[in-house]
Amino acid sequence: VSTVTASSLSWLFEELEALEEQGLLRHPVSLSSAQHPEVVIDGRSFLLFCSNNYLDLATDGRVMEAAAYAAMKWGAGAGASRLVSGTTDLHLELERELARFKGCEDAVLFSSGYLANVGTIAALAGEDDAVFSDELNHASIIDGCRMSGARREIYRHADAEHLDELLGKTPARRRLVVTDTIFSMDGDAAPLEELVEVCERHGAMLMVDEAHATGVVGLNGAGMVEAAGLTGRVGVVMGTLSKALGSAGGFVAGSKELAAWLRNRARTHVFDTALPAPSAAAAGEALRIACAEPERRIRTRTGALSLSIGLSELGYEVGDPSAAIVPVYIGEIADAMAMSQRLLEEGIFAPAIRPPSVPPGRSRLRLTMMATHTEEHLDRLLKVFARMKGKRNHHLPLGAGPPARAERRPRSPETVREGWEQWEAASAAAAPRPGADIEPHVRYQGGVFVTGTDTGVGKTVVSAVLARTLASAGLEVGAMKPAQTGVAGGDDDLGAIISLGGVAPEKASAPYAFEEALAPEVAARMAGAVIDAGKIVAGFMALKSRADVVVVEGAGGLLVPLNDYFTMAELARAMALPVVVVARPGLGTINHTALTVEAARMRGLSVLGVILSDFPSDPGAAEATNPTEIERLANTAIIGVVPHLPSLGEGAGFGGADPRRWVSPFLGGCFDRVSFFMELDRRR
Ligand SMILES: Cc1ncc(COP(=O)(O)O)c(C=O)c1O
Repeated sequence: VSTVTASSLSWLFEELEALEEQGLLRHPVSLSSAQHPEVVIDGRSFLLFCSNNYLDLATDGRVMEAAAYAAMKWGAGAGASRLVSGTTDLHLELERELARFKGCEDAVLFSSGYLANVGTIAALAGEDDAVFSDELNHASIIDGCRMSGARREIYRHADAEHLDELLGKTPARRRLVVTDTIFSMDGDAAPLEELVEVCERHGAMLMVDEAHATGVVGLNGAGMVEAAGLTGRVGVVMGTLSKALGSAGGFVAGSKELAAWLRNRARTHVFDTALPAPSAAAAGEALRIACAEPERRIRTRTGALSLSIGLSELGYEVGDPSAAIVPVYIGEIADAMAMSQRLLEEGIFAPAIRPPSVPPGRSRLRLTMMATHTEEHLDRLLKVFARMKGKRNHHLPLGAGPPARAERRPRSPETVREGWEQWEAASAAAAPRPGADIEPHVRYQGGVFVTGTDTGVGKTVVSAVLARTLASAGLEVGAMKPAQTGVAGGDDDLGAIISLGGVAPEKASAPYAFEEALAPEVAARMAGAVIDAGKIVAGFMALKSRADVVVVEGAGGLLVPLNDYFTMAELARAMALPVVVVARPGLGTINHTALTVEAARMRGLSVLGVILSDFPSDPGAAEATNPTEIERLANTAIIGVVPHLPSLGEGAGFGGADPRRWVSPFLGGCFDRVSFFMELDRRR
């Protein structure tokens, strides 16, 4: 650092000192564990009550694995802006899913929620226009309004009448009204219906920020617009992937024209490197889980209600939690800091929120609920608050009904009612959905990749069995054999899966067939052809769009090449499918199985487990002992055992046996692993 630079920056020291004196200098705490309700700070365990990871999906195994898969397939960074080479199938698919979730025609991704707000507001309003912003809107909205260069009008918090008045007296070419739907520091809800009416009356555009509502509020978790029954009446719906969806990024949903405009004119989309693939994939997986597991948002919201009631009964001034945020208003900076410090001493992490994040004199503790906070967590928190008020006891109002809450806060009784209606809807929906018990990867990635420890170990029979069991769980099943070989000698694996597995021929595909019974790459070479892995993956995607799940039978083992670049492992990864390893029982299988499982894991594949095929009815010493050893040495589970089927291949199907008995329940069967091992033990 040169002296000139150092001295020209010397004002920083004075400013920092001033901030320190006012209690405004930030010293972020460093967590040494992930965002769970319990975290580790400086080697000590704390209850976390300040994370926006509302549904606790940031650390959900399925979400983390989706991110890991995506990193392995697409790389760590996107490499360029969306308009250059940064757009991938993953981005487009996520945009489609988000649009569907929000009931809109299209959606546009941004690298963060902050950038989504800034870029969108500035793209929709310019110098000849006016923006109208709630006084408690998030900083990213404020910055977007400033950057737009439009005339700025600030209306009183959640005051549609004031907005109406301002709109009536502000001439402009175009007018844009922007509001949080759930306010980030106060946790209350905007009066959306009134705002929509006012905007419609004045012909003003309405943009809502659903950062804290997405995934948490609404019958399907789509946000306040859904909860208020206003889908289709709000033109610009912004949301984040960084809070309930546990990832990073932001998006704006709306009409296809809005999306096209933002893709061309939102500078934070155009001039910013695209969202990294792991974030996009994690958000997509989290979105699927958030939709499939409504109990998460219900637990989060009822927890927030209980907490607010408990705190106000203790005499605290508490905000109106319409979602997961419960503000406890303290007032002065020093008092809020002291309370936060006291909480820390008691093992609770909830930092004070001070100006400029909130107005002067309104410093507070901003508590947030997560779906995985337990009754005991809440109880511990309330006990500390009770002690800080000098009270011995507190009442934990879990299960407190909506009437008390509605009386206390007449402003938004519908929010409370909706919460309880959701409880009921969720219980009613407990009736089994097709495939509800099927392993989430198989359901959400749309299939399973069957590989073997070697060739000729029974992959085709196992694939047919899986097709049967998945269909019996109520799923539409497709089948794929990426490359058939040995067709000259009559080999037809796909045909066997179709007939034995009961798969409809129009839902089955084998993009390549070669005469010689050789590894696909070699058989292709002998036929003067080269296998195009892209064509296989595209064929798989096409099948996936016509079936719930596709059983893909790889050729040979995992490292068998398709061409110079692609092995079966890469193919499974490109299809983003979890893997089932088929092994034969008997001597030598432990080593082959352990190597296959290890190779799969090293390549970022998720291994569901091992299915033993052709298992003898009277196992010898090797067969009786190696299932245990496979589990131990390959660190995986035996998830199915297909017996020796003497009459197979003679049009006899499975000889009258029920194939569900051979496969674990999470793949649609009823294989009982424990009794299988007990029986082996008995025979030893
Ligand atoms: C209301 C609101 N909008 C936008 C953002 C910005 O989102 P992100 O953190 O994804 O940039 C936040 C949170 O930080 C927020 O609270």
